[in-house]
Amino acid sequence: MADGLKGVILAGGSGTRLHPLTRITNKHLLPIYDRPMVSYTIEALVLAGVTDLMLVTGGTHAGEFLRLLGNGREFGISRLEYGYQENPGGIAEALGLAEHFVGGDRMVVMLADNVLERSFAPSVEHFCEQEKGARVLLARETDPEHLRHLGVPELDGSDRIVRIVEKPQDPPSDLVVTGVYFYDSDVFEVISKLEPSKRGELEITDVNNWYVDQGVMEYDLIEGFWGDAGESIDAYYAVNDFVRKNGVNK
Ligand code: G1P
Repeated sequence: MADGLKGVILAGGSGTRLHPLTRITNKHLLPIYDRPMVSYTIEALVLAGVTDLMLVTGGTHAGEFLRLLGNGREFGISRLEYGYQENPGGIAEALGLAEHFVGGDRMVVMLADNVLERSFAPSVEHFCEQEKGARVLLARETDPEHLRHLGVPELDGSDRIVRIVEKPQDPPSDLVVTGVYFYDSDVFEVISKLEPSKRGELEITDVNNWYVDQGVMEYDLIEGFWGDAGESIDAYYAVNDFVRKNGVNK
């Protein structure tokens, strides 16, 4: 089902919310229970049948990814390419570096600090059946404080996404946009036209809102645990605790 679907793993950024831990390594190499964080993302993609992968990182510890992953065979990866983001210019800029790798194919993009209890294989199938556009995974989150640190969708009366607000003071729903995104190859054209946000980055939420405006943004509401281990030190430990107790990628 995932034939021809490429996978892009985004593992860059400066990880300032996890300083000083991230002064000595890349955030996505920090341990989650018994493995480096990025291993869970790779496991999730391989489990969903996506094995043609590119990992984009940046900063001073890029070589450690190669040391961990090598050519990827040990992890069930059929092809693994690496990309390097010269400056932390945002998630969307990092994705732009995958243009040659993805070519005209479709892709699933995953932020390497996201950990999910359940496999997103069903969403891969839904996206393969989708004619065009994009798809995001939403998770329910009732704590407004948590919502203020993430992307939050607003839904209309027919439960369609009408916009996504990044880190809203006043969250328009109790849902979050997780760091798993599906795109058609139009995404690179969209990224090339983006303007940097106030924090000087190309925002993935701006990319997603482009698809919302075109009327071609779909979503799946996921069940089970979801965590962004890079959101804060407390979130990092919440993800660690969950993984240790229950396991993930099931
Ligand atoms: C990013 C996205 C945000 C999303 C989150 C999920 O935030 O911008 O919309 O909810 O990932 O992990 P960041 O972690 O870069 O603050």
